[in-house]
Amino acid sequence: MASVTAPKRYHLTTFGCQMNQHDSERMEGMLESLGWQRAESREEAGLILFNTCSIREKADQKFITHLHDAHAIKRRDPDTIIGVGGCWAQSVKEEVFVQFPFVDVAFGPGQVDRLAEFLNSDSLTAQGFFEFESFTGRLPQKREREHHAWVQISVGCNCRCSYCIVPMTRGIEASRPLDELVEEVRGLVAKGVSEVTLLGQNVNSYGRDLKDGGITTFSGLLREVDGVEGLKRLRYTSPHPKDMREDVVEAHRELKSVCEHIHLPLQAGSSKVLKAMRRTYDRERYLARVEMIRSVLPDIGLTTDIIVGFPGETEENFQETMEVVDQVGFDGAFTFIYSARRETDAAEMPDQVDHQTKVDRMQRLLPLVQRRASERAQRFIGREVEVLVEGASRTDAARLRGRSRESKVVNFDGVAEAGQIVKVTIEAATSQTLDGTQVLAGVPTV
Ligand code: SAH
Ligand code: SF4
Ligand code: F3S
Repeated sequence: MASVTAPKRYHLTTFGCQMNQHDSERMEGMLESLGWQRAESREEAGLILFNTCSIREKADQKFITHLHDAHAIKRRDPDTIIGVGGCWAQSVKEEVFVQFPFVDVAFGPGQVDRLAEFLNSDSLTAQGFFEFESFTGRLPQKREREHHAWVQISVGCNCRCSYCIVPMTRGIEASRPLDELVEEVRGLVAKGVSEVTLLGQNVNSYGRDLKDGGITTFSGLLREVDGVEGLKRLRYTSPHPKDMREDVVEAHRELKSVCEHIHLPLQAGSSKVLKAMRRTYDRERYLARVEMIRSVLPDIGLTTDIIVGFPGETEENFQETMEVVDQVGFDGAFTFIYSARRETDAAEMPDQVDHQTKVDRMQRLLPLVQRRASERAQRFIGREVEVLVEGASRTDAARLRGRSRESKVVNFDGVAEAGQIVKVTIEAATSQTLDGTQVLAGVPTV
């Protein structure tokens, strides 16, 4: 069995959503506070860690391949500790040790702190920690990007979307107190952070569980965080369309730091499918929300999530999704093929759609999503947009890359350091990226 006095180097692989990226930054922060250092490869690590996702079957398969790779390393070096955290671990719990006996420690998203306990305990037996107990957001943080920070405002989800494994893997919703969050953001800004993304499964139900007479709302939180001196940009993900109210939209208009981007997951354009998904809004209500948002914020960047091939989705129902996508004209969309998840109601529904039909629908949806996003993006041409610089462009190292307030990736010619906020004149636009030239002080633009 693994010894915990092995070289104190860890290697962490992260799968899944922004919440997992956040949790991984906290895992790393915690490990480094215990004296562990990041290893460049798994072979060099005494502790091989995975932060897992289980949202779709593909996510599981991807992780299992990596886990076998770690097993091969452990066969060569039996002192290696293998740790598995996150949503997949939570969804299988102790079963992980039956299926994969070489795993030393497993923990769910609610007990990341127990990893420290395990590493300090000289434990000789494998251990699993799966209670929903603590906020990962309270652990030390090692940020991937110096100028950007994730802030976990709540954990868990009280919705019961029939396709979704997250309520099982993340538990019931619990919010962190407002004062604590404002204090955290203040500390981050003092360390040089200029952009913060607030994270929760359903951010706009924030505060409902806090016992302060119901005055703590998501828009109230936005207001307080916006008040932190020196914070330049405030983002959040994800809101649920059912809870997207006027006060949050007004907050976008009024508060300087709140960025001009809303991610509003549609999932499906058919009211019948939305009902079976248990989304609690129908097509008309979703469209009314979009209209309300655009009446206050005409230029807002609007993105979404869409699932194709949900059980019972007919060709006609799929066409309704196509219609909504065409009508709304999203600035971007994450599109997913429905994947049956263990212990979800949708997995048990009759009329599962066959794989080829799902793939075929996805192939028809994608070009429409891209065409509408590209059409929308043309509005930026000729405009000066504000860009937070992230570093060199991925396609051309001589150019720079950053993100606009509307959450568009911008590749541009210019001279700037990562973390700087600059103005860029946009000259070309595709569905994914904008392209332009930095506006330099004293140099007239032609
Ligand atoms: N809490 C967030 C994010 C949930 S997971 C929200 O509700 O918006 C991110 C996305 O994955 C979802 O919005 C959904 O589009 C997709 N997803 C979730 N479960 C899925 C499944 N079983 N099959 C395919 N896509 C799924
Ligand atoms: Fe899953 Fe629905 Fe909760 Fe999002 S709101 S995490 S899709 S159950
Ligand atoms: Fe995120 Fe995947 Fe869990 S999407 S919440 S890491 S199941």
